[in-house]
Amino acid sequence: MERVFVTRSLPGTALDELRQTGYRVEVWTEFLAPPREVLLERVRGAAGLITMLEDRVDAELMDAAGPDLKVIAQYAVGLDNVDLAAARERGIVVTHTPGVLTDATADLAFALLAAAARRVVEGHDYVRRGEWKTWHPELLLGPELHGATVGVVGFGRIGQAFARRARGFEMKVLYASRRPKPEAEAALAAERVELDELLARADFVSLHTPLTPETHRLMNAERLARMKEGAVLVNTARGKVVDTEALLDALEHGPLFAAGLDVTDPEPLPADHPLLGHPRVVVTPHIGSAGLRTRRRMAEMVAHDLRAVLEGRTPRHAAVLP
Ligand code: NAP
Ligand code: GLV
Ligand code: GLV
Repeated sequence: MERVFVTRSLPGTALDELRQTGYRVEVWTEFLAPPREVLLERVRGAAGLITMLEDRVDAELMDAAGPDLKVIAQYAVGLDNVDLAAARERGIVVTHTPGVLTDATADLAFALLAAAARRVVEGHDYVRRGEWKTWHPELLLGPELHGATVGVVGFGRIGQAFARRARGFEMKVLYASRRPKPEAEAALAAERVELDELLARADFVSLHTPLTPETHRLMNAERLARMKEGAVLVNTARGKVVDTEALLDALEHGPLFAAGLDVTDPEPLPADHPLLGHPRVVVTPHIGSAGLRTRRRMAEMVAHDLRAVLEGRTPRHAAVLP
């Protein structure tokens, strides 16, 4: 019986169904990731792996699994933790979960934007501390969402879904992307501009690129300093797309009013990190795709594609095909 190793428990019934179709499915059921040594041991002899974005999926891991390994199905759309070249060299198929989590992630990005701009968490803390004594015209003012200009960096699936939400709030959409997106541009009345122009014009900037060598610390001190006075930065892409030190500086001494972050560098963010000491930084623990329905559908997607490869069919969401 072919063995499949899954590095965390998944919601829904997809893994049970995989078992019922004749695979030996072993799941790491602890909440924290398997320690590296344990992971290297547990993957040995597996034909398929279902991995998470915190797992370092590199040549060492693939070689630890051994020659039976045919497919790595990543339970995420981002693949920056996976060495795709190493998989290609070994003839291992890599699949992921594009599309299914687009709307859930765009929803969270918009929630972070609204929360950071309109000071929702700061207001909640204020009430909790017992400081709410009166209604006052000048209490907790923040930039308005409607009518603002939003800059979307990385105008792919999630970036465009975010822009659709922004249009619902009557925002003007600017975007920066490597390639033009004429259809989305027309549908969203979006304007393609260079990143520097986007930073100078946007009241809100939301990051939606993958993490690549090109986007690593894309938002560095220089670019953060170019942002508009009073701007809000939202990051649901990857923590390393932003230089954390520079972000803190831009919040304390530079143009930034607030930030909404679902991803951070470091990640996880320790509770005593200076970012959490800033009243207008809202942080969620990388839960962009954590919609009830979405996480079940992601499980179905990885199980379906993993099975496809093991049964000699073409998977629907392959990032690497031999
Ligand atoms: P996607 O459809 O591939 O979109 C990514 C876009 O980024 C593409 O349009 C690409 O542009 C653009 N891009 C790449 N490099 C760029 C650069 N240097 N400058 C400007 N634009 C660049 O991917 P997606 O499904 O929207 O997902 C995007 C990312 O979101 C994922 O890779 C993942 O890291 C992150 N994510 C996070 C969560 C979460 O839980 N917070 C959930 C899902 C995804 P071109 O089309 O021009 O190549
Ligand atoms: C989550 O961050 C993903 O890439 O799916
Ligand atoms: C505020 O609550 C108002 O009525 O304007």
